[in-house]
Amino acid sequence: MNRPLGWGIIGTGLIASLQTTDLLKAGLHVAAVGSRKQISADLFGERFAIPNRHGSYEALVQDSDVDIVYVATPHPMHIDNALSAIAAGKHVLVEKAFTINAAEAHSIVNAARDAGVFVMEAMWTRFLPSMVRVMELVRSGMIGTPRVLLADHNQYIPYEKAPRLHELHLGGGALLDLGIYPISFASSLFGKPATITAKAILTDLGADVLTSGIFEYTDGAQAVFQAGFLTPGPNMATIVGSDGYIVLDGVWYKQTGFSRYDRDRQIVERYINTAEGRGMEYQALEVERCVKEGLSESLMMPLAETVTIMETMDEIRRQIGLVYPK
Ligand SMILES: NC(=O)c1ccc[n+]([C@@H]2O[C@H](COP(=O)([O-])OP(=O)(O)OC[C@H]3O[C@@H](n4cnc5c(N)ncnc54)[C@H](OP(=O)(O)O)[C@@H]3O)[C@@H](O)[C@H]2O)c1
Repeated sequence: MNRPLGWGIIGTGLIASLQTTDLLKAGLHVAAVGSRKQISADLFGERFAIPNRHGSYEALVQDSDVDIVYVATPHPMHIDNALSAIAAGKHVLVEKAFTINAAEAHSIVNAARDAGVFVMEAMWTRFLPSMVRVMELVRSGMIGTPRVLLADHNQYIPYEKAPRLHELHLGGGALLDLGIYPISFASSLFGKPATITAKAILTDLGADVLTSGIFEYTDGAQAVFQAGFLTPGPNMATIVGSDGYIVLDGVWYKQTGFSRYDRDRQIVERYINTAEGRGMEYQALEVERCVKEGLSESLMMPLAETVTIMETMDEIRRQIGLVYPK
């Protein structure tokens, strides 16, 4: 293929705008946008100078200028959007939460494997230079054996500000939108939890607005997370190891600085973030690298781990009584 890979955006909401901004910033080619309404596709296309503008998601996935589809719809729609893109032979980047439950995640992964296309969950935080550096330090033993993760994700988001986040038919609730970040972080540090304990407050609509949990791992490590819409929060994360600890500045899941401490609680390393912008281009560059190398998944966000994370969230939902309509 002599042309650059073409991205096709499904959905024209908040995150579609932010990801498109960063794709263009990185010099990647956004070939098309698809919306449920032609007018929305036209407005989005005009705003970002995207050449192909489709009034349906099906037309977007059938567009021969599109090689990689980015799914930026609410989580309950991810399964249909991803499956139709895969059926059209496209590679797919699916927003987090990947799906509503693990069964749906399995379906996407199986379909992608059968079709031989690349699929990845858009857990953009993992690809940020600051987070890559944190993981390098942990994996090279700079804080000894990691034992504990403490991480929160709180944003004050009342119903009026974002109904999607509170409506169950749109996948509402803090767990899948915010909790996914510390849960995914815990997964990257410790793997699959051996035990899961969670508590939550649900609204009258049935969505969780304050959810906390403890994961225990077979090696004795623990992760403690908290996510909610009721208050703004520090949004800080600390990884505690046998020889020291790393404190990520708020907002830990964005491009940020961090400090590494020794056993005597002295700062021995300070990482200052100098990168500008949101940094969603890093995950897109990883998608392009994998696609160009003929890989069907990224080692930085493996599909089996995405499914395990959905299984963890299924168990939390069971414990807190968060039930999505079928
Ligand atoms: N990575 C991040 O930092 C981040 C941040 C926020 C959200 N997200 C994730 O991105 C996804 C979308 O979130 P968002 O905040 O961008 O949502 P949003 O602003 O409400 O946009 C969602 C878009 O999905 C499309 N859509 C399809 N079916 C829909 C339906 N029944 N109701 C409403 N919209 C529908 C709409 O596009 P059309 O009208 O054009 O079809 C809409 O603009 C979620 O899975 C969320 O978790 C990720």
